[in-house]
Amino acid sequence: MNPAASILVIDDEPDLRTLYELTLLREGYRVETAASVAEAREQLSAKRFDAVITDMRLPDGFGMELLQDLRNQNRRERCVVMTAYGSAENAVEALRCGAFDYLTKPVDLRQFRSVVASAVQDPGHTTALRVARGAGAPRLAGGAGDAHKPTYALQRLVGESAAMQDVKQRIAKVARSMAPVLIRGESGTGKELVARALHASSQRNEGPLVAVNCGAIPENLLEAEFFGARKGSYTGASQDRDGYFQAARGGTLFLDEIGDLPLAMQSKLLRAIQERSVRPLGSTQEEPVDVRIVSATHRDLAADVQAGRFRQDLYYRLNVIELMIPPLRERLEDLPALCAALLSRIGQESGSPVPRLTDDALRQIARYPLTGNIRELENLLHRAVALSDGQDLVVESPASSAPPSHPQEAQPLQAPSAAEGDRAAPAADAAGVPPTLPHDLQAWLDQQEREILVRALKETGFNRTATAARLGISLRQIRYRIERLNIATPHASEGADDGL
Ligand SMILES: Nc1ncnc2c1ncn2[C@@H]1O[C@H](COP(=O)(O)OP(=O)(O)OP(=O)(O)O)[C@@H](O)[C@H]1O
Ligand SMILES: [Mg+2]
Repeated sequence: MNPAASILVIDDEPDLRTLYELTLLREGYRVETAASVAEAREQLSAKRFDAVITDMRLPDGFGMELLQDLRNQNRRERCVVMTAYGSAENAVEALRCGAFDYLTKPVDLRQFRSVVASAVQDPGHTTALRVARGAGAPRLAGGAGDAHKPTYALQRLVGESAAMQDVKQRIAKVARSMAPVLIRGESGTGKELVARALHASSQRNEGPLVAVNCGAIPENLLEAEFFGARKGSYTGASQDRDGYFQAARGGTLFLDEIGDLPLAMQSKLLRAIQERSVRPLGSTQEEPVDVRIVSATHRDLAADVQAGRFRQDLYYRLNVIELMIPPLRERLEDLPALCAALLSRIGQESGSPVPRLTDDALRQIARYPLTGNIRELENLLHRAVALSDGQDLVVESPASSAPPSHPQEAQPLQAPSAAEGDRAAPAADAAGVPPTLPHDLQAWLDQQEREILVRALKETGFNRTATAARLGISLRQIRYRIERLNIATPHASEGADDGL
């Protein structure tokens, strides 16, 4: 909290105004009030505040106009908008226009205090406005203080295609609000990198970024992992433990593969986000947590909502702002820059010079379908560097390493599915069915499954997340199947993929 902070509260209801004022005064803030847009403008032109809390509907206009004023004038005040119950669109609109956060009326005073506390948390947040604002191209360079951080973060996102420029501009725009962001994109498109750039460009960049792979946590541990646990709350809990929410306080909680979260946990997560507080396992006390939620998925969550696999209310809550990362095949103009950047990274990691990227090599690379996107490109380049012994990079032709296919025609593997419920109908596909019926159906299915898994794992450079996405099953399923079939995977990539 920052008790010295000054706050302007705008509401036309005298009783509510007094209630908010008293609540804030008791917290030790300096408070001014206004009853209309005109009064608020007068106050704002006379002095600076740390935060502005405004009702949406006012007698002479809308709270949004004040928000707009603040943005147009490059003012540092963070703005929290109060909207009537049931007008979620307004709240979402306000967040999109740069509001720091919103509160729904009737306002819960506990929530009110916690939102205000986060709004004034960093009194030096003039620097928070360092990232681009407004419609034009973001001004990514220059500025005072730690302005190098967002610049650097965004520069690490290689690619100047229109699609990538759009992604970068949107990151810069949403970085200053608290609005939840949902990052969508195929496997390997750079969702995690975007989440990190978003955090680093945001005013929370001094705080932690806690990245959680939702698909990699055993179901019975989810609650303790997310919300923490008190000593003795379960066997083995020998001391109090913080969860991801507590660990991310003041920073960003990145929920990767959010689509893999089981339904029961989805409701608990929704509650924590709405209440801005969590109750550790074995505790009776709610703990306030101030985190920004950024989530990511390669799945079509809207379809999962339709199918009843994902809670609609949580989906709306997470998807206030959506960042769609286009697949590499739709931004092939980024290929040369990406290859150059990845090669230089490979060189730095290995500590030895890398072969030259020739036009021929580039042409060869472009022939790959690259359905695994930038992660696949990375693996491809690793292989190529290992294969090249001269000055120039040698890239094997797609035919010699994987079945050639055109990106748009890239077919999912025709696999006899060994998924539960499917066993009665093995491989109607002529190519897959053995000439005579197998004597041991299970052994035959296992063999097919093993071959498919090994092939998909190889294709994705043994990345389990990407393999799961490639085969349309969850990460948990992949891990289970790899273990069940005793498939050996290179050690290094196992750890990298296992989340926290
Ligand atoms: N625009 C980019 N510029 C440079 N490197 C990138 C870019 N996008 C992705 N990468 C690199 O590609 C790899 C995959 O990126 P990342 O892990 O962020 O993808 P993802 O979408 O989260 O993938 P997955 O679905 O497999 O989890 C990483 O090594 C990342 O650094
Ligand atoms: Mg990822």
